[in-house]
Amino acid sequence: MSSLVTLSEFIMERQADFPYASGDLSRLLADIGIASKIINHQVNKAGLQDILGAEGTTNVQGESQMKLDVFSDHALFNAVKWGGQVCGVASEENETYHAFDLEHCRKAKYVILFDPLDGSSNIDVNVSIGTIFSIFRRRSSVGDLANVNDFLQRGCDQVAAGYVIYGSSTMLVYTTGHGVNGFTLEPSIGEFCLSHPDMKIPEDGVIYSINEGNLNSCGAGVQAYVSWCKEADKKTSRPYTGRYIGSLVADFHRNLIKGGVYMYPGTLKAPDGKLRLQYECNPLAFIVEQAGGKASDGRGRILDIQPRSLHQRVPLFIGSRNMVERVEAMIRQHELTEA
Ligand code: AHG
Ligand code: MN
Ligand code: MN
Repeated sequence: MSSLVTLSEFIMERQADFPYASGDLSRLLADIGIASKIINHQVNKAGLQDILGAEGTTNVQGESQMKLDVFSDHALFNAVKWGGQVCGVASEENETYHAFDLEHCRKAKYVILFDPLDGSSNIDVNVSIGTIFSIFRRRSSVGDLANVNDFLQRGCDQVAAGYVIYGSSTMLVYTTGHGVNGFTLEPSIGEFCLSHPDMKIPEDGVIYSINEGNLNSCGAGVQAYVSWCKEADKKTSRPYTGRYIGSLVADFHRNLIKGGVYMYPGTLKAPDGKLRLQYECNPLAFIVEQAGGKASDGRGRILDIQPRSLHQRVPLFIGSRNMVERVEAMIRQHELTEA
């Protein structure tokens, strides 16, 4: 029998690579692993229990909140609060950040931002959903309460980021800026085990993922790119394959493994698109770059954007390097001819 490396063993092993690390980040990652097992357990029961349906509240972006969103938000919030490695949290589900006014948290070095449940409209149809997280070193002084500047940091300053996908199997994928590693939950022992070491995204791919229902109200560059994907050309393996689940984590994960591009551009109604910079785009951008891919808002690198507000939205083009570069070039070209 081959030996399994569990998430906790892997995290501890990696910590030894950083001689002055205090272990706080390792403990935080382990706490997230535990919270995600709790969420996973609840997600698996979703079809059986009275856990489905809109909670009856709406989140700060006016979207209807499902019960599992709230459950996942609380699970992560409590895990990191009692773990004591972060001085504050910001979640897609809450209007503002929360600074933990507890002695052990005031001393903590990190802040965390998360989308507790991504793709929540897919819960009641048994389609893959996920959790996304992003970790920064705090800007405020250790001992103080966390403040808003701790959360408005550029993605390039993330110290760790990751996601969990609740799919045909449950996986946790994360980076600390030294490559990307994926762990699959082995249900019989309840542990995440290393299954995808040093993940790399193919430079090119044949999958494009976009909500084509919005295409008529996207910019001409995006429309031209999608038409190009559909043209026949043997040399470039076109027409490409269209795949869109409607859960960012699931669409991203598939493209990471197989090669592809995910696009959520601005539309006439929503010029900045739908996805949130800090909870969705930054963490996945960090991961994709660490895997050799690219993430852009159509004009420049996602990780270089200075956030102005907690719930900021940005257009997203993410995945295989050559595919993202091509769509960027087409956007540029159409903007030049329109100017
Ligand atoms: P969330 O469930 O966290 O609000 O995120 C939903 C997001 C993302 O997961 C997905 O890719 C996108 O919304 C789908 O949007 P459309 O239905 O507009 O395509
Ligand atoms: Mn989301
Ligand atoms: Mn969500």
